[in-house]
Amino acid sequence: MNQTRTASDGSAVVLRELELVDIEQIHRLECELFPVDAWPIEMFLAEVQHPTRYYIVLEQDHKIIGYAGVMTVADTADIQTLAICPSKRRCGYGAWLLETLHEQACARGAQRVMLEVRADNPAAQNLYVAQGYLPVHRRERYYNDGVDALIMMKDLEAVEPLQEEKHHDQ
Ligand SMILES: CC(C)(COP(=O)(O)OP(=O)(O)OC[C@H]1O[C@@H](n2cnc3c(N)ncnc32)[C@H](O)[C@@H]1OP(=O)(O)O)[C@@H](O)C(=O)NCCC(=O)NCCS
Repeated sequence: MNQTRTASDGSAVVLRELELVDIEQIHRLECELFPVDAWPIEMFLAEVQHPTRYYIVLEQDHKIIGYAGVMTVADTADIQTLAICPSKRRCGYGAWLLETLHEQACARGAQRVMLEVRADNPAAQNLYVAQGYLPVHRRERYYNDGVDALIMMKDLEAVEPLQEEKHHDQ
């Protein structure tokens, strides 16, 4: 399922399935990006090997620059995580990962996709709204530091399959 885009410096950015050898690198990124509630490495190991899960990474110059995962059970999918390293943001990579998860969830029979996002994370909320998500609920004090979670949902019926290869400028 590998897909490739070309960054503005000419290097290749590859989207591929996560492999077990990626976990240590991803866990280091996770601790940097989610200082309040980073997943322990054991949780990543359990997650990525679970049959209902599907995890992908973005790799550039042999480094992982983003990762994301989805759980699909019956007709509902849940985005488990999504992150892009700070120096690679606003290049469309978050949207690329998310669209790939949507496509996979559809292939596994999902008709809708849900996610939780911190109420104080407008960047992620904007991405989700741009991808067709609507806020459906608010869970008060959901996160470890007392911040609320917004629950967002998207109907997957209209998801188009992704093209195999795309070129993209940063
Ligand atoms: C949220 C996150 C994954 C977005 O990744 P990204 O690669 O920068 O997103 P994209 O470049 O694909 O952005 C797509 C659209 O989302 C919206 N968006 C993304 N980042 C934004 C920001 N900082 N401010 C406002 N809108 C933003 C915009 O509509 C953007 O389109 P545009 O660039 O054409 O305006 C990234 O900021 C991140 O990793 N944040 C830390 C981890 C995190 O919060 N994960 C989500 C947990 S629920």
